[in-house]
Amino acid sequence: MSFTIKDQAPARLNRSELAVPGSNPKFLQKAAAGPADVVFLDLEDAVAPSDKEQARKNVIEAVNDLDWTGKAISVRINGLDTHYMYKDVVDVIEQAGDKLDMIMIPKVGTAADVYALDMLVSQIEQAKGYKKKIGFELIIETALGMANIHEIASASPRNESLHFGVADYAASTKARTTNIGGPNADYGVLTDDIEGEAREYHWGDMWHYAIARMVVAARANGLRPVDGPFGDIGDADGYKAQAMRAAVLGCEGKWAIHPTQIDQANELFSPSEAEVTKAKRIIEAMEQAQKEGKGAVTLDGRLIDIASIKQAEVIVTKAESIVAG
Ligand code: GLV
Ligand code: MG
Repeated sequence: MSFTIKDQAPARLNRSELAVPGSNPKFLQKAAAGPADVVFLDLEDAVAPSDKEQARKNVIEAVNDLDWTGKAISVRINGLDTHYMYKDVVDVIEQAGDKLDMIMIPKVGTAADVYALDMLVSQIEQAKGYKKKIGFELIIETALGMANIHEIASASPRNESLHFGVADYAASTKARTTNIGGPNADYGVLTDDIEGEAREYHWGDMWHYAIARMVVAARANGLRPVDGPFGDIGDADGYKAQAMRAAVLGCEGKWAIHPTQIDQANELFSPSEAEVTKAKRIIEAMEQAQKEGKGAVTLDGRLIDIASIKQAEVIVTKAESIVAG
């Protein structure tokens, strides 16, 4: 271990993160009754400019009046480059801040963006005498944000999670795709032209670098990395493939932009029974090895050592936190 120890964000289940437009009170009600681990009530891109004020009122009412038991709630404010943002923060936190777990800050570009919001939120919390500190969820969805991701991730003790906003990120980097998440047929590798062998074209994951970079920045700072939206809501297999790639890389969960994606995310980001059983066997085998003074042994023909205990504990701890709810 390094001599530098980073604090960990508060432990929360974040397998599914449901996006729900603040302009639609019916959807807000449904979200409160649904199975998502985290719900973000959106004031930003799912809300048309003409609906922004009403959506803000709806969201304040929903945070205060609906029963959100069993889930964490967040409000996605508008970007720092808009004139809506200051009122989103002031009105929502002044009027509903004691019920709110987090705010979600979109299009974060620099550590100073986070710092500015930390100042504003701190003043409101102090003025209102709130005991609980509001956490920050930060969406990394611009080239600037991705370039500054490490400074952003450590910019405030309020930071809890980083989210990959694939749609805005594609636009910001001028990626040649109009999909929201998922693969693109033009991003692939053609195998070499070898005599007697058929050439094959393998699709690649054009988001690999961005998600892997976000996972590192988040984990290095004790935050939860969360994969963003998958736009093709009819394609459950596509959602699953994207979610599993993110899970394997270390993400805690994924957005659901439609209620049908919530159960899928909850399931896909929970370790399977087989994974938990295997992890427990690794821990047992290593405990036995250590009693015998060995640093490494083989289990099912594969080498395991002290690092394997840590890998296995990640899975077992996750499974326990899911059972604990
Ligand atoms: C989310 O906000 C995205 O842009 O994908
Ligand atoms: Mg976005």
